[in-house]
Amino acid sequence: MKVLIATDKPFAKVAVDGIRKEVEAAGYELALLEKYTEKAQLLDAVKDANAIIIRSDIIDAEVLDAAKELKIVVRAGAGYDNVDLDAATAHNVCVMNTPGQNSNAVAELALGMMVYAVRNFYNGTSGTELMGKKLGIHAYGNVGRNVARVAKGFGMEVYAYDAFCPKEVIEKDGVTALDSAEELYKACQFISLHIPATAETKNSINYALLKNMPKGALLVNTARKEVIDEAGLALLMEERADFKYVTDIMPAAHAEFAEKFAGRYFSTPKKMGAQTAEANINAGIAAAKQIVGFLKDGCEKYKVNK
Ligand code: 3PG
Repeated sequence: MKVLIATDKPFAKVAVDGIRKEVEAAGYELALLEKYTEKAQLLDAVKDANAIIIRSDIIDAEVLDAAKELKIVVRAGAGYDNVDLDAATAHNVCVMNTPGQNSNAVAELALGMMVYAVRNFYNGTSGTELMGKKLGIHAYGNVGRNVARVAKGFGMEVYAYDAFCPKEVIEKDGVTALDSAEELYKACQFISLHIPATAETKNSINYALLKNMPKGALLVNTARKEVIDEAGLALLMEERADFKYVTDIMPAAHAEFAEKFAGRYFSTPKKMGAQTAEANINAGIAAAKQIVGFLKDGCEKYKVNK
């Protein structure tokens, strides 16, 4: 059996070593395709792979067509919007993710970006502090929970809204659960996004929702760029000089944002939320273990194309 790691944005070496250990202990072979620049390289590498470990790498029908021996794809991470699930099912390929494995890393980055923004991007002028400010966590999954934990350490007042998480679960963590996104955005000066990119959430963070945020608003996006209605956000930022946007996923309109909103907009050049040795080890080794469990015992825990 051949397990391929196909990562445009590579794991830390220590994580690749850990994955190799798991794969070879199972008697399988490990192949590595990192930092590829052309889809053709991916199409070639998947030809004889029985299993693939990916990150945000795109697995579409063309890749699945080329991967004639493929049985399983594991997205080492949470969001699997980069995999065509229907095509995978049609190709009889199991798709899994590794929920929770990189969530602390993403949460730490979200808080780091908040500090960076309120300190005026370290430009030497007086900024503000997080302590005592209201933080709204939009979606209370693994990352949202970790953001709440770290934010409480900063002394923030933490609120959350999650359409799928019972309020009691949120309130057990000492977080105030609200009934709607509208309420959350009205109540909180700081919003941290943790919603996945789905048909329902795409473009859902729009002008109408954002316009009600209190003065000195800061939107932090470590989720997905697709959830933002970029035109609506740009319009709002033109109208409100107090509104800041920091993101770990570069907007399609990055050049426009950087030019028009200099001093209150920041994007990482490449998604960095899960880019820590710890998160790479956790998610990468979990992916390797899930592959071995699936190929040896048929274990389908964490399968997402049910
Ligand atoms: C995830 O969905 O797990 C995060 O967005 C991290 O993605 P990455 O592995 O591409 O950095």
